[in-house]
Amino acid sequence: MSVSPIVRSVDLSALNTLGLTCQAGHVADLTHLSQLPVMSALAQRLGLAVVLGEGSNVVLPSSLNRLVVRVQLKGIELIEQRPDAWIIDVAAGENWHDFVTTAISQGWDGLENLALIPGTVGAAPVQNIGAYGVELDSRVESVTAWNIPEARLVTFAREQCGFKYRDSMFKRAGLGQWLIVGVRFCLPRPWQPVLGYPDLLRHPDLAGIAPEAIRAQQIFDAVCDIRRTKLPDPAVLGNAGSFFKNPVVSASEFHALKLRFADVVSYPQAGGSFKLAAGWLIEQCGWKGKRQGNVGVHERQALVLVNDGHATASELLELASAIKNSVSEQFGVELEIEPVVVSDTSL
Ligand code: EPU
Repeated sequence: MSVSPIVRSVDLSALNTLGLTCQAGHVADLTHLSQLPVMSALAQRLGLAVVLGEGSNVVLPSSLNRLVVRVQLKGIELIEQRPDAWIIDVAAGENWHDFVTTAISQGWDGLENLALIPGTVGAAPVQNIGAYGVELDSRVESVTAWNIPEARLVTFAREQCGFKYRDSMFKRAGLGQWLIVGVRFCLPRPWQPVLGYPDLLRHPDLAGIAPEAIRAQQIFDAVCDIRRTKLPDPAVLGNAGSFFKNPVVSASEFHALKLRFADVVSYPQAGGSFKLAAGWLIEQCGWKGKRQGNVGVHERQALVLVNDGHATASELLELASAIKNSVSEQFGVELEIEPVVVSDTSL
């Protein structure tokens, strides 16, 4: 049964993980696919500000008058148990970590390295979430999304999603184009542990165990443990995870940097380029643990900006821009903001 979405005025301050103060004039909850055409009509009338899951990767302005759609579609369904993969359909409004927890408990292994990432399943493909050696795209079969201006549903095979590091064609298309309604996962069988990330290799519960004896649940537990140690819990301290992407530089830029900064933390990439640890660059510039009004840089992970209290987006973006300038001056490397910055006028 379809129920027309109710458009309400909502204080979004507790509905974004950064905890930024935000009053939104027109918020509609999407609870059923049949509401999608009405959403498109509303978006056309009011203009669309943002499609929101749990607000874990957005910088919201202090007020929004355009439409905000909160995706609350639910459902997890095992579609097929193939000899080579588990195929699972998950609705966009499911909480990401709850889904990963369910998957592991069902024996649908393969997402354990992505445990404890805040946000919804529908938000995951937008920025192609990744952690501890696994990126989402390696576990996706297809993504189904509603084209908001054209009012039609489209299913994209993985290769059509334009996945890159913390990027996808959904992100590149801009905020007004696509509303992801569901993700079909393909979790390869037999399961193979992914243990290459240094923090995982070093974890006391995994170090020394033969890879063939390791279970997905143990990796899940270790990842949760590492994340809890390094990353602030958004329920306690407002944050959006990494605020910058790890920048990728050419081999020649990297070698020039390495001559000047022997300790630069880097990861060689396919094609000869190098990814740099932005957290290291920011820490070297003296920002780790620094406070600036209501915002600051986390003391254990310099890539994470935090909201100490009642910060607004402009305060946070001012800090981000000061950090970008320092890194650019000291290293000649340009940092790129990772979360989506929302404004009432951007569309
Ligand atoms: N480092 C520092 N100082 C810092 C932080 C990091 O020197 O303050 C150096 C250390 O050498 C550390 C290395 O950077 O060993 C890498 O740090 P970490 O393992 O914490 O990973 P990261 O590159 O900073 C990325 C992702 C995280 C993901 C982790 C683990 C991005 C932008 N961030 O962080 O993702 O959890 O790897 O895979 O790619 C997120 O996107 O929100 C996020 C948290």
